[in-house]
Amino acid sequence: MAYYRADLAQVHHHGFAGHAQACAPGVLDLLEPVRGGTVLEIGCGSGLLTRELAAAGHRVMAVDASSAMLALLSTQELPGVDTQLIRLPAVLPAADAVVGVGHILNYLPDTAAVDRTWAAIATALRPGGVLALDICDLEYGRARRDAPPLGRVGEDWAIVTEFSRPRPDLFVREMTTFVRDVDGAYRRDHERHDNVLLDTRALPEKLAKLGLRVIIANAFGSEELPVGLRTVIGTRTA
Ligand SMILES: C[S@@+](CC[C@H](N)C(=O)[O-])C[C@H]1O[C@@H](n2cnc3c(N)ncnc32)[C@H](O)[C@@H]1O
Repeated sequence: MAYYRADLAQVHHHGFAGHAQACAPGVLDLLEPVRGGTVLEIGCGSGLLTRELAAAGHRVMAVDASSAMLALLSTQELPGVDTQLIRLPAVLPAADAVVGVGHILNYLPDTAAVDRTWAAIATALRPGGVLALDICDLEYGRARRDAPPLGRVGEDWAIVTEFSRPRPDLFVREMTTFVRDVDGAYRRDHERHDNVLLDTRALPEKLAKLGLRVIIANAFGSEELPVGLRTVIGTRTA
């Protein structure tokens, strides 16, 4: 499924920077042991975390499945950042760290695709490499079972989001965006995002079999994350 066409990408970039900004200090602390290496950022989107990584002096390979998101990233001319259009699951470039915020793995169609992506991450990570991702647990859906629709308005854009949880392991966002066109009128678009939810308690044992030693936590550092969003933090064993 193609997520984040031009209008939603623009709304995300201008209206939803808070999460990446909140996560950045904790992610940067975790990356200190691999300073000087290459950081692979999966689901980099429009570069809201990428620019923090670049500002801290990291060399970044930023990958995403949305060409609209990557187009927004490339307008920022970030030093030390290369981009690639990659739709997970896919073979990934070798790296000293794999990071990602905005629950990228939950966008995959099913748990089999998530498992193939864990394997690709483990293969890409060099021994001693760092893993730092956020991911929605089953609790994410439970906590939002009866969540009412949400509207947000910014300069030249608005978004209305409706939520549903058709299954305990599936969380759906139906988003209608309104973005001001060159003629001043608002054009409308609609995207449905299906997020597969995972039992994150099972991850340490599952990932250990791939050579990834991880812990599941509620934050990268001292930031406060939404209920049900967990972090997967760890290293690639030798
Ligand atoms: C919630 S956004 C987060 C973007 C960015 N990391 C941030 O924090 O602003 C999720 C991102 O995952 C990307 N994505 C979704 N499915 C993907 C896939 N199968 N492969 C790669 N990227 C994907 C989307 O295009 C989008 O940029």
